[in-house]
Amino acid sequence: MYSTLITTLNEGIFTITIHRPEKLNALNKNVFDDLDKAMNEVYSNTEIKSVIITGSGTKSFVAGADIAEFSSFNKEQAIQLSQRGQQVFFKIENCPKPVVAAVNGFALGGGCELAMACHFRICSENAKFGQPEVNLGLIPGYGGTQRLTQLVGKAKSMELQMTAQIIDANEALQLKLVNHVTAVENLLSKTTEILSVINSKAPVAISKIIDCINTAVVSDTSSVLGYEKEAHHFGDCFNTEDMKEGTAAFLEKRKANFTGK
Ligand code: COA
Repeated sequence: MYSTLITTLNEGIFTITIHRPEKLNALNKNVFDDLDKAMNEVYSNTEIKSVIITGSGTKSFVAGADIAEFSSFNKEQAIQLSQRGQQVFFKIENCPKPVVAAVNGFALGGGCELAMACHFRICSENAKFGQPEVNLGLIPGYGGTQRLTQLVGKAKSMELQMTAQIIDANEALQLKLVNHVTAVENLLSKTTEILSVINSKAPVAISKIIDCINTAVVSDTSSVLGYEKEAHHFGDCFNTEDMKEGTAAFLEKRKANFTGK
């Protein structure tokens, strides 16, 4: 049913595993199409009470958007890519059923953005988080400029996005980016344990909590503008030499040499 996801349904918990292990589960067009479909299934299937999103293997949750796929895009294609990613992630964020990210390794770029679109995050000790897009001459395009700021505050969000620093699980916990850190082998059992508690509560009340809390952080016009601005600024970066250099350097496995053009 899905070419890039493995899904299971157990006692009301629907687990979506992003499965592109050879590319560290990077998000390409097919993953977005599959995630969109999987979320439609979550909205419509009454047997699903809550959702876990995780990555295949123990090395990576999601290592970002697929850099090879977008490296030759023009500005318009880049804006569309960003808007498509934002739309799928809004579907996750606004889901009336709880969606929790079980972060099992690298959550970089689009991976960190996917985790942040979930209602909360639990990670294993080997998890690593970051928005390293500036290394590619880019900015986050799937809501990262907005959601990281909501979660860790303006100053830390500025520092993390401008330095491209990768942080470990304990720092993510300190910054309140994740709610719990577990041993690698306990990640899914801990996540399931929390969701089992939530699944025993009244589903209508749970959906109202999600809606009210989302409204507390994303309803004002400035945050809508923030997402629009992000998509257009993401597109603007595709008109720069630095973006071409940054993505080429990643694909050629070398350090980028930025010139400011
Ligand atoms: N897009 C496309 N391919 C990716 C990818 C991404 N975001 N992240 C990893 N891959 C691919 C690599 O190109 C490599 O493919 P190959 O074997 O065909 O060469 C494979 O996944 C394994 O990655 P590799 O870099 O060899 O693993 P590593 O352990 O040395 O490094 C990372 C792991 C996560 C540090 C490194 O892959 C990385 O920096 N990825 C990009 C992170 C990023 O900038 N994300 C934001 C994108 S907007």
